[in-house]
Formats: sequence, structure tokens, C-alpha cells
Amino acid sequence: MTKPLNVGLIGLGFIGKIHTTAYRNIPLCFSDPPVAARLAAVLRSDLGTEVELMEESRFGLRTTDPEEFFNQSLDIVDICTPNVLHMEQVEQAVQRKLHVYCEKPLAMNYEEARAMAQIAREAGVLTHVAFVLRYLPAIRQMKALLEAGRIGEILNFRGHMYHSGYLDPDRPMSWRLRHSQSGGGVFADLGAHLIDLLHYLMGKVAWVRAATKTYISSRPVSRGATEREEVDVDDWALCTMELESGAMGVLEVTRMAAGAAEETALEIYGSQGALIFHISQPNFVRYYDLNRKMWSLGAIDVPEFPGERPIGQLWPSGKYSQGLMTDAHLASAYDFLLCVAEGKPSTIGFEAGLATQEVLEAAYLSAARGGERIDLP
Ligand SMILES: NC(=O)c1ccc[n+]([C@@H]2O[C@H](COP(=O)([O-])OP(=O)(O)OC[C@H]3O[C@@H](n4cnc5c(N)ncnc54)[C@H](O)[C@@H]3O)[C@@H](O)[C@H]2O)c1
Repeated sequence: MTKPLNVGLIGLGFIGKIHTTAYRNIPLCFSDPPVAARLAAVLRSDLGTEVELMEESRFGLRTTDPEEFFNQSLDIVDICTPNVLHMEQVEQAVQRKLHVYCEKPLAMNYEEARAMAQIAREAGVLTHVAFVLRYLPAIRQMKALLEAGRIGEILNFRGHMYHSGYLDPDRPMSWRLRHSQSGGGVFADLGAHLIDLLHYLMGKVAWVRAATKTYISSRPVSRGATEREEVDVDDWALCTMELESGAMGVLEVTRMAAGAAEETALEIYGSQGALIFHISQPNFVRYYDLNRKMWSLGAIDVPEFPGERPIGQLWPSGKYSQGLMTDAHLASAYDFLLCVAEGKPSTIGFEAGLATQEVLEAAYLSAARGGERIDLP
């Protein structure tokens, strides 16, 4: 029997559309899934676009009125709005004892994230943050190999996420480029994913030193406008860090890498081997075994990490793949639906969002102080 859960979606921009596609396609990718999302309502700032998508997705209610939205019978509120709105919308959902799936970064800053985690904990609702890279089969293989101690003591690591979307100086202003709406630039946007991966794979961060740069310091207020607005967030960031384990590493993110569409990688080097993830091979991690002096790829002879749902239950088979972005968001949304149906906490709850926010905040403080070392509590 498939249990239907009523999902209320807030925001139908870029990622809201991907979440919508993910919910709709769960029954396509899995036979008789134990749970399904009913798209009960969508709350938007404007109902004039994505009209066909809203019709096809059979949203029970389409509205711009939060009261009307929250008056629906909902099980889960899925927040896909600019970062500045996350806290207020989480509060509205939690007050009504609704479970919450929130996009990353969880909040504008550490204080907000802490308050959000606290109110959700006190209300006893389930939470989930869209750190979707955790669902890539290659990342799950990395986790299994690390848990099995296959690369020995972790010595150092290097991660990057390079995008090119903001190279065009005529690209107009948007919420991502305003600190007052985003809470940070590319490090908050893309760096958040990598920080979460570090937490997931290797544990907590001990200290950071960071540098940031804004290459294009003003942009047209709207497409084609001559009037310009100051950009007060980072286009590029580099963060060096030590983990509590003693491992040293570096993360670099940018929106200004020509030719990089979605260029993401994480390399981890240990005393007994190495692990290399590259986004071009999301299904397989490359593993170097120092004892055998051999690289291998793909199927691994270690059990999956037992603390989470097996990825085979969540990741669409190759034949149903709708591309990496949608597959990863489908796995994440499906995992949370299953958590809610089972009444079990997600492994990526608001505490994970809070932990990431703490590192983001320390890195921005370090950058503001010229790369000073900032110790995490
Ligand atoms: N996990 C990921 O892979 C991923 C990828 C992209 C974006 N994101 C995150 O998703 C969130 C949204 O990003 P995006 O790229 O979709 O932005 P976007 O600008 O494309 O979409 C945001 C949408 O929110 C709507 N909106 C604004 N105010 C609203 C309100 N008061 N009520 C309802 N809707 C409102 C806007 O009209 C817009 O359609 C951000 O937190 C972002 O960091 C995550």
C-alpha cells in the first residue's frame, strides 16, 4: 500500500521545479513505492509563470497567500525560496507542527540556523536539508570505504565546486548577489554542499582560514538596465582547514570558472590509499589501495554504512535517470518522505544544516579578518 503524504511547496523557481519533478517521478522510478507525495499546495510570490507545470503537477492549491497555503491539510512543507525567507517559513510550518524539508544553506547565518534547529526540536517535527550530494552513489561508496578504514588515517583532502554562470558582467542582480537576501556568496551557496560532505565523510572542522573575492563588484539592476547595484558577496572563495581528526584540507568554490558547467570534485588522501570523486562519474568512486598498488573503480567489497537507508532504495536506476540533478533531488525527497511515513528522523536534519552554517560563518569571519585562523567551538 502506498501511503500518500501531502506536500506543500513554497517557491517554484529553479529548485522548486526540480523538487516538483522529483516528487512526480517517484512512482515512475520505483514500483509500488511505500510512500508518495501528493502536491497539495504551492505558495508562490507570483502565479503568472510555470502555469502548465502547476497544472500538470496537479497542485491542489496555487496561491500567493501564506494563510490560505497553511490552511490546507499538509504533512510536509518544502521550502525552496531565497535564503532570507527560510527562517520565517520554517517558523510558520513548525508552529503548525508540520515536518519541514528546507533547501540549503539552512539559514542566513548561524544564529538563525540555531533558532530554527531549536524550534523544530522543541516542536518534535522531522526536518531535512537538501544536501543532495550525500545521495550520489559514488559518495556513498566513499563513506563505506572510509568507515571500513580502507585508506587508513586521513591525511589531507581537496574539494572544489566550479560554476561559470556569473562570468557575464551583464548578468543582472538577483537575490544570490545581495548579502541581505543570501547571507553570503558562492561559499554559502556551493561551499555549503562541500562542508556538509566533509562532516558526513570525515567529521567536524577544528579551524578555518579563508579568502574571498568579488570580481564583478556591480551589476545592472535588471537585464539591460544602465543603472547598477553593488554586489556585496563573494564570487570566489578558498578555505583551508584542519579537521578535529587532524586531517588538513582545502575547499575552493567559484561562479567564475569559464567552461565549468557543474565541476565538482573531492579527493581524500590517507596513509593506506586514496579516494577520488568527480561529478562526471557520480556512480563510482576511484579508490587507490596502497597495499595492492592498484586503482579500482566502482563496485566495492565493503558493506554500506549502516546508519542510513541503502542507496539502492533511493537512487533511480540508470534506465529511469533524469539526469544527475533530478536524480539526486529525487533520492533526497524520497528519503524524507520515507522518514516521515516511518516517523524516523532524517540523517540530514536541521542539525546538519546548523553544523554547516557554523563553518560558513567562521570562514566568512576569517576572510573579513584577512585570513586569520578561526577556531570552531
Ligand atoms: N540543493 C541544491 O542543489 C540547490 C540548487 C539550487 C538552489 N538551491 C537553494 O534553493 C533555494 C532557492 O533557490 P533557486 O535557485 O530556486 O532560486 P530562484 O530565484 O530560482 O527561485 C526562488 C523562488 O522563490 C520565489 N519566492 C520569492 N519570495 C517568495 C515568497 N515570499 N513566497 C513564495 N515564493 C517566493 C521566487 O518568486 C522564485 O520563484 C535557495 O535556498 C538555494 O540556495 C539549492
